[in-house]
Amino acid sequence: MDSRISARALSAALGGWRTREPAYEALADGIRLLCLDNRLAPRTALPAERELSAALHISRSTVAAAYRSLRDSDHITSTRGSGSVTLPLRRRDPGRAASADGAIDLQQASPPAWPGLAGVMSDVALSAAALVSRVGYDVFGRRELREAIAARYCERGIPTTPGEIVVTTGAQSAIHLLAAVLLGRGDRVLIETPTYPHAADALRRAGTRLVGVPVTTDDGWDLDRAEQAFARTLPVLAYLMPDFQNPTGRSMTGGDRATILQSADRAGTVLVLDETTADLDIDRGPVSAGFSDGDPSLVIRVGSLGKTVWGGLRVGWIRAETDLVRRLVAARSAHDLGTPELEQAIAAAVFPAFDAVIAQRSHLLRDGRDAVLEALEEALPEWRVPRTQGGVSLWIELDSPLSSALVMDVRSRGLLLSAGPRFSVDGGHDRHLRIPFTAPADELIRAVSILAEAWPRVRDGAPISVVDQLDAVV
Ligand SMILES: Cc1ncc(COP(=O)(O)O)c(C=O)c1O
Repeated sequence: MDSRISARALSAALGGWRTREPAYEALADGIRLLCLDNRLAPRTALPAERELSAALHISRSTVAAAYRSLRDSDHITSTRGSGSVTLPLRRRDPGRAASADGAIDLQQASPPAWPGLAGVMSDVALSAAALVSRVGYDVFGRRELREAIAARYCERGIPTTPGEIVVTTGAQSAIHLLAAVLLGRGDRVLIETPTYPHAADALRRAGTRLVGVPVTTDDGWDLDRAEQAFARTLPVLAYLMPDFQNPTGRSMTGGDRATILQSADRAGTVLVLDETTADLDIDRGPVSAGFSDGDPSLVIRVGSLGKTVWGGLRVGWIRAETDLVRRLVAARSAHDLGTPELEQAIAAAVFPAFDAVIAQRSHLLRDGRDAVLEALEEALPEWRVPRTQGGVSLWIELDSPLSSALVMDVRSRGLLLSAGPRFSVDGGHDRHLRIPFTAPADELIRAVSILAEAWPRVRDGAPISVVDQLDAVV
């Protein structure tokens, strides 16, 4: 067993779990969703029945029945004396298994590969002999790729040298490396809520305490809360997505950027700006350089080709001042020994076509976004749907806080989504649902019709046997 969750923490993670009758099945569903989302990792010890019943103000027999249901669906195992422990999910690769059944997987906001990528890969493979003639370990990154990345920053008005770039195995690995080098146990980290959940997970794993600052689709960043959070908690690091924030799709205004920069400066906080989605502008011109006029040692940028070119390429980077780059490079070997050379060579060959890549992406995302907007307007007019200008997803407000219950329901109908609370830092967001618009338009339209069919039933709390339905997908 790796970890344990207290009754209080489980109660907070469950949020408004009581969405249907019988209560024990609603509770079991709530815990199942936490397992599916990986908010409850496999081999986590659950609280004793007595403790959970006290925290949730329900009878012990209800918790006992919920645990029994979870045992029956193989989500937990219980042993006398050591309590109940979550199990690894039976279906190890949910996305692929579901797709094979014709299901629609919108859990990840992952566009298909840029159509020109296969051709670039074939061309690069022709120079394989030259590639393999070099030493294979390079924790810094190929010079030609770092030059291409630096040149792109220069074009955006952010003067950058190749010595200020470290190539990583995607942006996720960049975030992880930054957390390992810059953060210590107990440090405070300011983060948007909702946010990109794998970044929150990586920062939590460094033993930090996350301080959430709300971002809404209507008003953007809550700057009052942000200023207070910087001043009161003096965070060591702030992890932010200033352009097309995932999942809200909002971008900071010039004024927002200036306020954040000033507050961070006063608090001595390092700003980590995740720009993975920054180029995904659907309606407007190129993104602004934003924070570039701040103290360079205060601003670290993370980038990636994951959303623009292809997630499977696994190429990302960190832009930081050279002193920090040296520290990152020195620490990196404990994590990995560099980004694969072939992938780096492919990435370097893609950069000259980057404007064409972005144009194709905008087109694809515009089609997807418009298809979802139109379908939702017609089928679910009671939901509040923002008109997002870029990024990869819509952050939709439901007319009842039943995102988790809805996600569980449509799962059995072959539609896989992540519920609002998955993106939350401190609980809540069950009134929100993220719909990525990275899939083909016809799939997205089908997804909306499944949601529209399920919503009245979920909202009215009609009992459904989720355990049976889950088994059909598992
Ligand atoms: C905001 C954000 N940052 C980082 C990542 C991870 O990117 P990569 O595939 O480059 O690791 C994602 C992927 O979903 C993302 O949305």
